[in-house]
Amino acid sequence: MYESILAITGPTSGIGQAAVKVLVKQYDRVLLLCRNLTKGEALKKALFEINPQARVDLIECDLSDLSSVKTAAATTHKQVNHIDCLINNAGMVSTTKRESSDGYELMMATNYLGPFLLTHELLPLVMNSESKQVIVVSSGAYKFVPMKRPFFSPQHFNPLAGYGRSKLGTLYLAQELHEQYSRQGLKTTAVHPGMVSTNIGRNNVSQKVGDFVFKLLDPLFVTVDEGAQPIILAADHPEKYAGVYSDEGKIAAVKQYGSDFIMRREFIDATLLELDLKAL
Ligand SMILES: NC(=O)c1ccc[n+]([C@@H]2O[C@H](COP(=O)([O-])OP(=O)(O)OC[C@H]3O[C@@H](n4cnc5c(N)ncnc54)[C@H](OP(=O)(O)O)[C@@H]3O)[C@@H](O)[C@H]2O)c1
Repeated sequence: MYESILAITGPTSGIGQAAVKVLVKQYDRVLLLCRNLTKGEALKKALFEINPQARVDLIECDLSDLSSVKTAAATTHKQVNHIDCLINNAGMVSTTKRESSDGYELMMATNYLGPFLLTHELLPLVMNSESKQVIVVSSGAYKFVPMKRPFFSPQHFNPLAGYGRSKLGTLYLAQELHEQYSRQGLKTTAVHPGMVSTNIGRNNVSQKVGDFVFKLLDPLFVTVDEGAQPIILAADHPEKYAGVYSDEGKIAAVKQYGSDFIMRREFIDATLLELDLKAL
């Protein structure tokens, strides 16, 4: 009998965790791609409580580290021969200039380059499934600033610009996937979950400052369960959300830099070159 399989990054906190706690009831098997296996084990136990029938596997994957991504992808290929839905959810914010182990700006590495490589490596498994779906968690932050060279290691660091560009990159990745693979049945959705009160960005500041800022912004935030809804909606309705940008569940036009096709082409080509890949 066919086994429906979900793979998700960043399931150990926030939106990803809220989403997988719902989606575990809808798939036969769930692959948790996480950097922290202790948190992963705790989540695995919680998922078993929710759906004892689902098989849950943990795969170590630090998206900021390209070699970890390659190892995670190789492990995944050994464990399954298809993935119905890949959710690229993991992401982070850094308020200071930091470099990944490969020498890239950390947000660009974690939010874009790692997920790009992971998607490239897992795409054959997605295309070998019945559902053929990829969900990319982008952000309304894609509108902050245009993409700018040097793409992956900018000389001047600005946290908002850095985060915005990494999320514009994820939007370009979703658009590129749709353009290249929709004719072969791939359903791709880029999601903005809304402003959600999660752990994102909190590890950069002291607990006190973090709590203060989050309290100040509290009226603007939706809950994690609400933030997970656009992901769950896309997973439940792949055809409806195929090839679109879902802004908190509503299909929305992509504006500004998000619709700069020439820049997207340049950026994707530069990514392929950087990662030494021939095609997505
Ligand atoms: N919160 C918002 O308002 C908002 C708005 C728009 C878009 N988003 C996007 O939503 C996604 C989920 O964020 P969230 O708000 O739920 O944040 P979160 O609570 O901080 O969760 C982030 C998840 O990503 C994982 N992660 C971080 N760095 C990683 C790395 N190097 N390798 C592998 N996994 C890593 C974290 O793992 P650990 O548990 O080990 O830390 C965690 O599971 C992100 O892509 C974010 O950009 C969030």
